[in-house]
Amino acid sequence: MIILIFGATGSVGASVLDACLNASIVGEVRAVTRRPLMETSPKLRTYVHKDFLNYATVEEAFRGVDACLFCLGISAMQVSQEEYRTISYSYPLAAANFLKAKSPGAFFHYISGAGTSANSRQEWARVKAQTEHDLIELLDADCWRPAFIDARPSASLPKLYALLQPVGKLLKPFPSLYVHGHDLGRAMLQAGVENLRCRIFENSEIRHIAARANF
Ligand SMILES: NC(=O)c1ccc[n+]([C@@H]2O[C@H](COP(=O)([O-])OP(=O)(O)OC[C@H]3O[C@@H](n4cnc5c(N)ncnc54)[C@H](OP(=O)(O)O)[C@@H]3O)[C@@H](O)[C@H]2O)c1
Repeated sequence: MIILIFGATGSVGASVLDACLNASIVGEVRAVTRRPLMETSPKLRTYVHKDFLNYATVEEAFRGVDACLFCLGISAMQVSQEEYRTISYSYPLAAANFLKAKSPGAFFHYISGAGTSANSRQEWARVKAQTEHDLIELLDADCWRPAFIDARPSASLPKLYALLQPVGKLLKPFPSLYVHGHDLGRAMLQAGVENLRCRIFENSEIRHIAARANF
C-alpha cells in the first residue's frame, strides 16, 4: 500500500506514522508536513509544504495513493473560530478534493474525535461534524472518533495535555475511552483491508478493528 499522511509531526500523526512504517502491508509512506520530520525510514518520503489549501506543488505525493490518513488538526482552545474552521474543515476538504482527482478510489481517513456532533453546543464539534459529512459525500471517507489517544504529546499541544497524559493511560481498561495511537493507525489500515467505507467509528469499534489486523 502507498499511504499519504498529514499531521505526522503531531502527537497522533507521529503514532499513526509509526504504525504505518511497521506494517508489512505498507510499502511507502508519503508525509506532507510544514516542517521536516525527525523520523527516517527507507519507506518514508517527506514533502515539506506551506499552503494546505493548495497542493499543486506536491501533486506527485497524491498520485498512486491507496489511502490518505488525515491526522492534521488543532485544539479549538489554541486558535480563533475562523482559524479552527480553516484547519479542521477547509484543509481536509482541499486535500480530499485533490486526492480524488489524482488517486480516484483511494481511501480517505479523517480524525474528528469523540463528541463530534452536528447538534452539539460546542462550535468545534459542529465544525468536525460538517467536515465528516462533506468528506463522506465527496469520497466515501471514513471518519474516526477516538476518545483519549495514548501517544507522546507533541510540543504544539497545550501544556495541560502533557500533564494529563499519565491520567489518560489509566483509561486503558475502558474500550470506549482509550485507544493507543498505534491502534488507531492499524485500524485505519485494516479498514482498507476490509473495504470499510463511508463509516463513522467510535472509540470501541476502533479498538475492535485494530485487534483484527494481522500485519
Ligand atoms: N490527542 C488526542 O487525544 C486526540 C483525541 C481525539 C481527537 N484528536 C484529534 O486528532 C488531531 C491531531 O491532534 P494531535 O493531538 O496530534 O495534535 P498536535 O500534536 O498539535 O498535532 C497537530 C498536527 O497538525 C499540524 N497542524 C496544526 N495546525 C496546522 C496548520 N495551521 N498548518 C499545517 N499543519 C498544521 C501540526 O503541524 P506542526 O507540527 O507543524 O505544528 C501537527 O502535525 C486533531 O484534529 C485532534 O482534534 C486528538
